[in-house]
Amino acid sequence: MLTVALPKGRIAKETLEIFETIFGNSFKFDDRKLILDTPKFRFLLVRNQDVATYVYHQAADIGVVGLDTLEEQGLDVIRLLDLKRGICKVSIGMKKGEKLDLNKPDIKVASKMVNITKRYFEERAVSVDIIKLYGSIELAPIIGLADMIVDVVETGATMKQNGLEVVEDIMTSSTYLIANKNSYIAKKDEVLDIYEKINKVIQAEQKA
Ligand code: PRP
Repeated sequence: MLTVALPKGRIAKETLEIFETIFGNSFKFDDRKLILDTPKFRFLLVRNQDVATYVYHQAADIGVVGLDTLEEQGLDVIRLLDLKRGICKVSIGMKKGEKLDLNKPDIKVASKMVNITKRYFEERAVSVDIIKLYGSIELAPIIGLADMIVDVVETGATMKQNGLEVVEDIMTSSTYLIANKNSYIAKKDEVLDIYEKINKVIQAEQKA
């Protein structure tokens, strides 16, 4: 049996729909329950930021999580498959009309993704002050807390409605199927079987 960590919300729903397509069963969590037991799989409903932690510690064998979160957390898990869903970008946003000038002294950047932010500026040998926030990042430049933000952009509506615009894209993200390294060896047949089945669904979607 495989234990599968899914992030609460849209990704869990979409992933369970993939499993339903593959196995022809109904996979639905009861009301507020966080565990769904089926003959082949045990599904766990966890916070998005906790999926890779469950997989890394082998509390789950496999999981589904955004590449942006994987890059930010840097946990040593196997990235098995791009599910081609949840496509978004991690971008730098500034007040509309402002330009990104990396030579400006004392740059302040607000973000919930401090590691991605740190890497981006370090690679360019620019020293910046990173201000960690947990949400509503778009507020920071407007009220003068930071010069710019690094945040997830999906439709761009949040930035636009708050008077910001993208000045640079850092990475493209999408949802990934991940696996624990030991599970990948100890339960190789089961992991590869579900990998192949999900891959078939994704390939068929891409062709349609
Ligand atoms: C993300 C991100 C932006 C918004 C971007 O927040 O931090 O605020 O989505 O989406 P858009 O480009 O389609 O407007 P999310 O809703 O994930 O909530 P969070 O603040 O809890 O991360």
